[in-house]
Amino acid sequence: MRAPKGMLDVLPPESDRWIELATRFAARAARFGYGLLLTPIVEHYEVFQRIGETTDVVSKEMYEFVDRGGRHLALRPEGTAPVARAFVEHRPPVPWKVWYLAPNFRAERPQAGRYRQHWQVGAEVLGVDDPDVDVEMISLLAGFYRDLGLRDVTLLLNSMGDTETRSRYREVLLAHWRAHAKLLGDELARAEVNPLRILDSKRPDWQQVIEQAPMLSDYMTDEAATRFTRVQEGLTALGLPFTVAPRLVRGLDYYTSILFEYQSAAFDASQNAIGGGGRYDHLVEEMGGPPTPSIGFGAGVERILLACEAENVLSPPTARVEVFVVVAAETSDAVTLVDDLREHGFATDRSYGGRSLKRQMAAANASGAAWTVILGEKEAARGMVAVKNMASGEQCEVSREQLVAWLQEQKGNEPQ
Ligand code: HAM
Repeated sequence: MRAPKGMLDVLPPESDRWIELATRFAARAARFGYGLLLTPIVEHYEVFQRIGETTDVVSKEMYEFVDRGGRHLALRPEGTAPVARAFVEHRPPVPWKVWYLAPNFRAERPQAGRYRQHWQVGAEVLGVDDPDVDVEMISLLAGFYRDLGLRDVTLLLNSMGDTETRSRYREVLLAHWRAHAKLLGDELARAEVNPLRILDSKRPDWQQVIEQAPMLSDYMTDEAATRFTRVQEGLTALGLPFTVAPRLVRGLDYYTSILFEYQSAAFDASQNAIGGGGRYDHLVEEMGGPPTPSIGFGAGVERILLACEAENVLSPPTARVEVFVVVAAETSDAVTLVDDLREHGFATDRSYGGRSLKRQMAAANASGAAWTVILGEKEAARGMVAVKNMASGEQCEVSREQLVAWLQEQKGNEPQ
């Protein structure tokens, strides 16, 4: 038996890095005033239809199925549509500031940094249209990368303008694609629905035509241009370096206005995005809610951890066990002693199943514990236990009754 293709198990101690990453993200999101939102892993298919039927994510990569009740459902391919759906369903007061940590499913061709199940941490603000919120969103994610210790991260920024900008641009862009109908073949039909999609194609034979395509920035209304400038000024004021990337479109249809993407130098260009997002001012309305301008991002956990590995940051904590209990006597009180230590806050482990003293000591060594408590028959008769300092190798006897207090004192004396 194996896990499904492109889906990973995360085992301890590697999973310690996940805990660390999630904890740092949760702490930062809380500081910024975001609450955790949990939504189902499956949604009605229609929820994801709104993110774009011409996108690969929906048309080629989605895991969809009909359940026993005949409902057309899909495994979540991304986190924003479920947030918008939950907003429409529950109508919380705005601004609604939420964060999430959740798995997403896309049947892509698996390779390093690209999986069929990947996890994202993300944040969304629904119900405000303010360039200050855009800046806050972008800086929240930058701060998170900083919290992890990442340095080799670049920020790309673009604007899709406003509705008028996009309708002007769609026309000229479509005219450009039509002029290359032979090269584009069947894809032209997709372009007729959303001409932007071809811009993010990685097909080598199209790159020249893509490069020659008109630029959205040339069709920007004054209002949209001013908005984009405000965001850039905000980022500059925060000392956050960025590059304006006029060709950045991102692969989902709901984006309007500001777009951003963080890239890590640790990867090949095709999967170097370690997070990205943007405004989606009409998604909630398209799902039947009130006009609700919104912005958010999602950041891939596996890719971020790979980037951390490449930059040699966020190493897992070494010793997880503080005390190891070795049971060398038949009549020992191992169960109560171990429980006592754990209840007093010591990370405690032991061996089970009556293994030899030698094997238990080897397990104690391997555990990385600072102290090994040995329950021996002779000592037990006198109400004592043996305690070994694993770093120095020194061993002494401590009264069983005093053990917790004694270990607490030793711990207090350790250099922090
Ligand atoms: P996305 O760019 O499709 O956006 O995904 C966000 C991040 O998830 C990517 O930057 C990447 O780090 C990671 N990612 C995506 N696909 C994979 C994969 N197959 N394997 C590993 N990692 C992957 C979204 O999903 C939007 N919901 C972001 C957003 C939130 N926009 C507004 N709010």
